[in-house]
Amino acid sequence: MRSSNHNHETEGHNPAAEVSLFPELTPPSIESLAEGVTLLRAFCLDQAPALFEAVSSIETTSPFRHMVVPAGHTMSVAMTNAGELGWTTDRTGYRYSPIDPANDRPWPAIPAVLLDLAQSAAAGAGFPGFTPNSCLINRYAIGARLSLHQDKNEQDYGHPIVSVSLGLPATFLLGTLRRTDTPRRIRIEHGDVLVWGGPARLVYHGVAPIAQGGHPLTGPFRINITFRRAR
Ligand code: SIN
Ligand code: FE2
Repeated sequence: MRSSNHNHETEGHNPAAEVSLFPELTPPSIESLAEGVTLLRAFCLDQAPALFEAVSSIETTSPFRHMVVPAGHTMSVAMTNAGELGWTTDRTGYRYSPIDPANDRPWPAIPAVLLDLAQSAAAGAGFPGFTPNSCLINRYAIGARLSLHQDKNEQDYGHPIVSVSLGLPATFLLGTLRRTDTPRRIRIEHGDVLVWGGPARLVYHGVAPIAQGGHPLTGPFRINITFRRAR
């Protein structure tokens, strides 16, 4: 069954290697944004309904929740996790945990459709052999944002970060290794996958407030799924 939000037709398994019949619309393309930062545009457009369904299944056991940062405020982004280790924060700090503090049970396993996507996207961006054991799912309502930060709670920065976006578009703030540099504003759409690693593994990044809108698959939300090797 075709989903209502398709605006191009492709065949095969690797969208980045395919030829669109309507290249003026959303052709899969690979863009190098900086050394170690690759934007795979429309890379997972065809699988998006299955990816969203996988998120929905995770959410039934480990629901989205608004976590509190050590400084004391509640995040505007709602989060949940899948995988051996889930990223959490509370007043005592940021950490990876094998247990969901909301239900004291292990996080759900990473569904195969998500794991396969993470591995093929990493390979497509020049990081073959990526074996994520952590999948953080961020749900942005309209107006939600994520301030500039580095992903540095992981043990080995040799592994990249793979970031999948579904639903409402976002302005991704792509900084550098220095917090004081003004970040570039990158438009990220439904179906895009952004990968950063190697020399860019510790770049500062964030998300500007999500603009008003609606999406055929996700409604009034942007869903971002980041895959990491936490340990
Ligand atoms: C993150 O930095 O964890 C999420 C980035 C995004 O939502 O695009
Ligand atoms: Fe991040």
